[in-house]
Amino acid sequence: MTVPHLLDLARALLRKNDAGPFTKPGPNQYPHQWNWDSALIALGLSHFDLPRALTEIRSLLSGQWKDGMLPHVVYHSDPSDYFPSPAFWQIENNPNAPGISTSGITQPPLLTTIIRRMRTRHSIPQFIGEVYPSLLKWHRWLHTSRDADKSGLACIIHPWESGTDDSPRWLEVMASIRPQDVPDFRRGDTLHVPAAERPHQADYERFIYLIDVFRREKYDPTALLARSPFLVQDVLFNSILHRADEDLRVLAEELGQPTDEIDDWMNNLRAHFDRQFWDNADGLYHDYDRRGSASISVNTAATFLPLFGGIASREQAKRLVEEHLQNPLEYAPNQKIRHWLTTTSQSEPTWEARRYWRGPVWIILNWLVIEGLRRYDYNDLAGAIQRDSLELLARSGFREYYDPRDGSGCGSTDFSWSAALAFEFKEGA
Ligand code: DGY
Repeated sequence: MTVPHLLDLARALLRKNDAGPFTKPGPNQYPHQWNWDSALIALGLSHFDLPRALTEIRSLLSGQWKDGMLPHVVYHSDPSDYFPSPAFWQIENNPNAPGISTSGITQPPLLTTIIRRMRTRHSIPQFIGEVYPSLLKWHRWLHTSRDADKSGLACIIHPWESGTDDSPRWLEVMASIRPQDVPDFRRGDTLHVPAAERPHQADYERFIYLIDVFRREKYDPTALLARSPFLVQDVLFNSILHRADEDLRVLAEELGQPTDEIDDWMNNLRAHFDRQFWDNADGLYHDYDRRGSASISVNTAATFLPLFGGIASREQAKRLVEEHLQNPLEYAPNQKIRHWLTTTSQSEPTWEARRYWRGPVWIILNWLVIEGLRRYDYNDLAGAIQRDSLELLARSGFREYYDPRDGSGCGSTDFSWSAALAFEFKEGA
């Protein structure tokens, strides 16, 4: 399939999943608006319908809480079979909740970077002026309400906040959680996707238990930092946050807004990042379990995100690429694995080819890693991953994730961000 034809299909899919003010990430599996999905969808839309792309972002921001929190799901639309339903979250018990139904947790803060990217391609000064205060407020919330140790590193309180929901990074922390009185619930995620491609039941039960803890605490940020059983400093989340701060700073300068506060966040995060995450013996970045005061020594593709964030030194980048990314025992294609980029190293005993974040290829991770590699001048490798990504999309369609052994599709069909990112891959294809 030629690239122009693939982009025609991508455009048609984004139109098909258009629900008015927002775009469904997946027509059946994800029928509401998800935070980082929406950012990427807006980027895709901006290639052929800029006004609609701006609407996507305005809709997402309409779910922002009064204290700045930008939720991971905004429920604009009619009831669906998606669980948790809006009512399950009980956000109305928090005085900062917005007038629209949302979840009570957040997601990786990719939005500012996406807006800056759009800004480099289009003249949208009025829009930037309009959304800047909301972006600043979200970043401020992350650097204050989620900073447990004044390190500039944000904590996440739920695996869903990492965007990599059932990554083996979270297994040990999840195992330490003993769910009690879990409310009755019926999973909606296995109605449209085979259970073997979705999280294990024991993990899912903990996902729901955590939400129940949060709603009992009425989503009070201080109480959640003090008592959430899951409290983690995540390499991926903080790398994206640092990059987003950098991009926010550029927007601030353009608008003639002060930058001191943003500089403080960035300097603080940089000063603590290596100490908390870098494992010099392994040559890997590891997440940190704050509740258990322990490094999480699991090898997943999250370790490459400091390249996207621009936080790794040249030496660290070299080790990540040469010892891990290009290593056929971990991430590089080999006899068994034909495609870039398995989201968990094959060396991990928990690796699974088709289960959600346990091993499949995700187009978003490929894109984040490609962007990071380019930042550090690994252009040939970035090009190889980009070509492979395009091949996957052309051969197996816009799926949520892909089996790295044969490239067959898994999870949701007609997945919006896989289509949206096709537009980013077209450069140099
Ligand atoms: C789900 O329902 O699995 C979502 O990924 C949570 O955001």
